[in-house]
This record gives sequence, structure tokens and C-alpha cells, in this order.
Amino acid sequence: MRKLLILLIPSFIFARILIQGAMPIEIDTLVNAMNDKKVVKIGSYIFYEGKIKGRDIVVSRTLIGLVNASAATTLGITYFKPDIIINQGTAGAIVEGLKLGDIVVGDRIYNANSYKTPKSLYTINPLAKEPMIAPLTLLDTNNEDLKNEYFTSDETLVNKFISLAPKGVLKVNIASADAFNKEILMLHLWNKTYNASVEEMESVAAAQVAKAFNVPFLAIRIVSDNLIEDIDYTPSIAIKLQELLIKIIDKF
Ligand code: 5AD
Repeated sequence: MRKLLILLIPSFIFARILIQGAMPIEIDTLVNAMNDKKVVKIGSYIFYEGKIKGRDIVVSRTLIGLVNASAATTLGITYFKPDIIINQGTAGAIVEGLKLGDIVVGDRIYNANSYKTPKSLYTINPLAKEPMIAPLTLLDTNNEDLKNEYFTSDETLVNKFISLAPKGVLKVNIASADAFNKEILMLHLWNKTYNASVEEMESVAAAQVAKAFNVPFLAIRIVSDNLIEDIDYTPSIAIKLQELLIKIIDKF
């Protein structure tokens, strides 16, 4: 009878979720909500293992930028074997209409660091930059090159999150790079090249590593600034997204 009951419990409630954030303001609310907490530091990377609402959670401070996010994701997968990875935090809107506190999920996630230019003595005609996919290449199961133009969030996780979150969550393309870009021309360029609505500095690296290890991935960002609309960077808005995640995490 007990075995039967266990079989009837949906498998998702056993799933272990790795939740990533780059900065203390992007993880502290989650960490404070954890029970049975254990801190594990590997190199520069801190992980908090424990439970939120009975769910098995690892919160990871990735630090800022693509290199840090890829290292933290690789370690997170290797040490903690998560079933799901959620990369979350703040992002800057690069289009009109997105306001402070709006929540977006990454539909296509582009590496805006990755481009080639024509031969030229002088810098820089930004319009001549072409996306380059070699750095985004992975290997498939036959060791053949698996070329990626962009990475994506897992569709089931996107739909689950949208169904659990308040109305108004948007699916957008993300431009991810090692840059806090405030040059309006570059922002327009990223919008034109990638059809991106926000910029940030980690999710593409986490998405690429998650794909390399075949772990379902979800990028969620809360808008902390909008340079097109003169909304200044307000990192404390990151708390709102964590509060939402805490509210719905047991339903994931
Ligand atoms: N440009 C780049 N990164 C941003 N972030 C928030 N807004 C922006 C923006 N306009 C996020 C990054 C990084 C930190 C600076 O905040 O992902 O972790």
C-alpha cells in the first residue's frame, strides 16, 4: 500500500531545483526562506542546499558574468545533480514598454559577446558585427558538432511558470553578454540583431552549460532598468522575483 501511495505521488515533487542568482540581492531572500540549510563553497562559488516549502532546493550565487555563470552551472550540475535549473535575477530592458518590476522569461537567449567582424583597420562599425556561433557549439551524442545560434528555456517549464505567476509575464528574447551596455545605438543593434527585449550578463552561459548536460533550464528576469525609457538601475527589485518564486516553488 505504501509503495502504491509513493507511486501515485507525482515525480515532480522529488525534483531537485538549482536556483541561480548573480548577486547577494538576487539570492538572499531565497536563502533566508530555506530550512535545513547547508552552505557549500567550491572555489569562488557558494551553494546553499536545503528546503523551501518542503522542496529540495540548491541556491547558487553564480557571481556576475558569463565565465562565472558557466563555472557555477558546471559545478552546480556536477555536485548537486539538479533536475531543473532556474537562472533568475535582474535585467535591463532595451525596448520601450517594459517597466520596473515587469517579469520576463527567456524564449531565445543569445550570446551578444559572440560575433565576427569584417577585416578592418579601424573600429568599429557596430552594424558590421555578425553573430558567430562557433563559441556556442556543443557535441551531440555521436560527438558531432551541435551548432547553436541561441539557447532556449524548456517549454514545459516556461508554461508552468507562466501558469503559476501573476498575469503579464512576457516571453522575450534575451541578449546576454559581459557588458552593462548603456550605449543606445548598441541597445538598438541588439534589439535588431536578436529581437531582444532585455540585456543581462549570465543566462546564456547557464543555458549553454545546462544544454551540454541535458538539464531542463528556465531563465526568468525582473526588469531593473530601462535605458530607452530612462528608468534607472534598481537592483532591489530582485527581491520581488524571489518572493514570487518562494510562493510558487512547491508547485513546480
Ligand atoms: N545590463 C546588463 N546587466 C544587467 N543586469 C541588470 N540590468 C542590466 C543591464 N542593463 C544584471 C546582470 C548582472 C547585474 C549587473 O545585473 O545580469 O548580473
